[in-house]
Amino acid sequence: MRTSLINEMPSVDWRVCVAPMMDLTDRHCRYFHRLITRRARLYTEMVSTGALVHGDVARHLDHDAAEHPLALQLGGNEPAELAHGARLAQAWGYDEVNLNCGCPSDRVQRGAFGACLMAEPQRVADGVKAMSDACTLPVTVKHRIGIDRIERYEFVRDFIGTVADAGCSVFIVHARNAWLDGLSPKDNREIPPLRYEIVHRLKREFPALTIVINGGLAGDEAIAAQLQQVDGVMIGREAYHHPWSMASWDHRFLGSDAPAPQREDVEAQMLAYLQALQARGVPWPTAARHMLGLWNGTPGARRWRQVWSNHRLKNEPVARVAALARAARLDAAASTALAA
Ligand SMILES: Cc1cc2nc3c(=O)[nH]c(=O)nc-3n(C[C@H](O)[C@H](O)[C@H](O)COP(=O)(O)O)c2cc1C
Repeated sequence: MRTSLINEMPSVDWRVCVAPMMDLTDRHCRYFHRLITRRARLYTEMVSTGALVHGDVARHLDHDAAEHPLALQLGGNEPAELAHGARLAQAWGYDEVNLNCGCPSDRVQRGAFGACLMAEPQRVADGVKAMSDACTLPVTVKHRIGIDRIERYEFVRDFIGTVADAGCSVFIVHARNAWLDGLSPKDNREIPPLRYEIVHRLKREFPALTIVINGGLAGDEAIAAQLQQVDGVMIGREAYHHPWSMASWDHRFLGSDAPAPQREDVEAQMLAYLQALQARGVPWPTAARHMLGLWNGTPGARRWRQVWSNHRLKNEPVARVAALARAARLDAAASTALAA
């Protein structure tokens, strides 16, 4: 019985995770992130169960072996379709299948999944049960602390209680409500107030569950402080926009003794990756866009970014663009040093 999992110890596998982000955390982005952190758990963008029933499965699920540990996030509400998605997650070699109960977008609401599922815990429980029965992967749920103006702690407590009874033992909690009445997805990641104490209380009340906190967190000190209260931390925008913030994670939080990554090496490995893509006829900017923040915070970062995002260079051999970007960065850095 999957429910026996609930009696086990919380898992350390979710200690530091990179959030699923539509249009951002595609396979190219994850490959890049994996060069910076070898151990953090990575998530796909949300893939709707409908896309896996009717669409191009390989396009949605194919990934590089280097990306593990890797979770597939599903969006859906039909147990049979969720089971199908979970089966595919296992067949394609994912390490986890996650159900999205936090997305507030209109499109997702029209499909009656995402955050609005929090109003129907039993439906989520049925979906989780169907997924658990269909695969041997951990089935996890990502959700909010409430929807609309429901601020009561008991709402999210009862949601977790019901879904845990169906066999889910890992909950990733975005520590703000989703306001489903007219706020855009972007505003819904900024305007409803963050209430970390709700997530901490969930952990105290469900000590055997793995509780991962998400929302508005940035920097190692913030992660370390949260890990005093919960089992894991999931970082989204900060990881994407300041990717080098991930460089300390393996050593500081994930038990690695390997030497810290160097930006130069990551840049060189990305160049090899982009060259391989170009050789297969894939336009390199589709992947290079994710690494624009690599040198952020160092002299010359802006010039480097400008070269990589210059549309006039998009048909150039990628090695030439890399050489131009590097020269521009070093040049700007030298000028900064001279001026200092
Ligand atoms: C561009 C963008 C796309 C997102 N897409 C998803 C998604 O597909 N699935 C999901 O569960 N959350 C999605 N989110 C929400 C993030 O996973 C995360 O919960 C949110 O950004 C708060 O974390 P942060 O403050 O660390 O960014 C998205 C966020 C952003 C910025």
